Parts: sequence; C-alpha cells; structure tokens
Amino acid sequence: MPSDKSLRQTADERGFNFGVAVDPDALRNDVSYRARVRDEFNTLTPENALKMGPLRPSPETYDFGDADAIVNFARANDMDVRGHTLVWHNQTPTWFQPWDYTDDQLERFLREHIQTVVGRYRRTVDVWDVVNEAVADDGTMRETVWYDAMGETYLDRAFEWAHEVDPEADLYYNDYGADAINEKSDAVYDLLERLLDRGVPIDGVGLQLHALGEWPDCESIAENIRRFQALGLDVQITEMDVAFPAGEAPEDALQRQAAFYRDVVEVCLDTGVDTLVTWGVGDANSWIRVFRDFSERYTGDPLLFDDRNRPKPAYDAVIDALDG
Ligand code: XIL
Repeated sequence: MPSDKSLRQTADERGFNFGVAVDPDALRNDVSYRARVRDEFNTLTPENALKMGPLRPSPETYDFGDADAIVNFARANDMDVRGHTLVWHNQTPTWFQPWDYTDDQLERFLREHIQTVVGRYRRTVDVWDVVNEAVADDGTMRETVWYDAMGETYLDRAFEWAHEVDPEADLYYNDYGADAINEKSDAVYDLLERLLDRGVPIDGVGLQLHALGEWPDCESIAENIRRFQALGLDVQITEMDVAFPAGEAPEDALQRQAAFYRDVVEVCLDTGVDTLVTWGVGDANSWIRVFRDFSERYTGDPLLFDDRNRPKPAYDAVIDALDG
C-alpha cells in the first residue's frame, strides 16, 4: 500500500539509515532531484566527488568544491555522510602515473592524501570507505598500484592513517560481488580476519550489492552478513541497485524488482544492519546508463525512482518493509 509517510520519515522512525549516492551537479541544477534527496533519504554518499581523481586536479592541488557542496547539503539537512573512497585502483587522477614514483614515494603520497582528506572532513564525514575493492573476482588480492608498492599492508596503513586523523569516524572496507557467500566473500572474510588479527582499526564492511543481471540469494546474504558480524564488524549495504539482463526483463519487472528490494531491507532488519544506500536517486541518473557497456548488458532502471524522479513500486516496498 502506498504510504503517507516519506521514506525518510519511515527510516527515521525505525532508526534506520537509508542513503543515496549523489551527484553535485544534479543536486545544484535539478529541483526534483534535490527535493527527493532531501525529503526521502537521511544519509548521503558522494557518488564520485570524494574519489582521488575528482579531488586532485594536479599533483599540488586539491579541489574540494563538489565534495564540500555535498557535505554542506547533508549537514544543512541533518543527514549522515558516507565518505567514498580513500584508496581505490579506479578513478585516480589522469596525471597520476605510478611509474613516476618509487614505492616509498607512493606510500608517502597515499598517506598525505588520506591525512588531508580525512582531516578536512573530521566531524562532518561519519563513515569512510577507506579501501575499495582490494580483492579480485577470483579471490586473490587485486594487483593495484598500492598493492604493488606496499603489499597487503597498504590496507593496514590506510586504516591506521585515517584512524589517527579522525578517531571518531567509522572505517570500512567496501567491495562488490561479496554480498552473498561465494569465493570472493570468502576471500574478503579472510582478508578482514587478517587485518583484525594484526590490530588494524577497521569497524566494518560495506557490501555494495549491485544486483545486476544476477541477484544474490537473500538467505545467503544474511548468512554472509552474520559471519562478518561474528568477527566483530559492522555491516552496511553501500551501493544497491537492481537490474535485469538487457532484453530479458519479465512483464512484472517492476514488481520483481520491488520484491528484491523488500527482501534485502528485511534481511537488514533481521540481521541488525542499520544502513542501506542506493546508488543513485532516479533511473535517469543511474551509472548503469553510462558506465562502460553496462547499458547493453542490463536494463537501465535499477533504482527506487523513475526517469522523472517519481516513486516506483520498489519505493513503496522498502517503506512497507521498514514500517512492518
Ligand atoms: C561509479 C560511479 O557511479 C560512476 O559515476 C563512475 O563513472 C564510476 O564509478 N563501485 C564503486 C563505485 O565503489 O564507486 C562505482 O561508482 C560503482 C562500482
């Protein structure tokens, strides 16, 4: 049943953080987008603005304009902020060529980056995805520039540097394809267990939950969440969207999508996960429409709001689940 209460009101009443990834230009220029963000969500993740590439136009300079705009908007509207992301192999600056640096220089560069960014948003960013996607799809450590220079301890140092600068922030490891029990989530589990054994200050794990084409089984997601919680880690769903393989959407696609969103919210409530972020507001702004060949592989309508930011059945389903 459509509810009289907004998603945000419903989430607030339940003590749940329902978040959304936001784009600064849409926030500034699109009135219906801005209204949805403000009225329907209580948590924001900058979709790109806090990544190293957008933040670092040249080696000596930082451009915090877009990130500041989002963080200020969140504060003005009493929302939490998930900072995404400090260490990643993608979206590094175009001028950044690893071969220009020695391993020691790369380590210093990363430390300075983390200290500067976390320092700027001390007390305004609540949660950081400190390291994003360090595990490859086959479960081995991904051979990134950071891994190449520092080995696995790049994760240890990254969490330690962030923790030193802002001991209050909650520090997360974030990854895709590790939502349910599988080879990759086994590897993430083992990695995080090693970090904890070494005393690394990590608070939680973010499961991105890009349900694209194939959707993970909800019982398996719940079991996976519980094993990370048993390690003492908090778990959040950090980048959810739900699409069918292109050309294979069933007639009742919107209802099926709604049911999956509902099931995932119910998994969160059952397991004590208190944060779920969707990766965009309306379908028109979804990354799936523009990223690589995704528009050929998946249906471009993975979110809670449609092309004109009107609520879809999935919107009613998540409210219903949170209200239940
Ligand atoms: C995506 C953004 O949505 C796109 O706008 C950008 O072009 C590429 O990155 N996993 C992540 C996110 O951790 O940062 C990615 O976001 C989606 C996959």
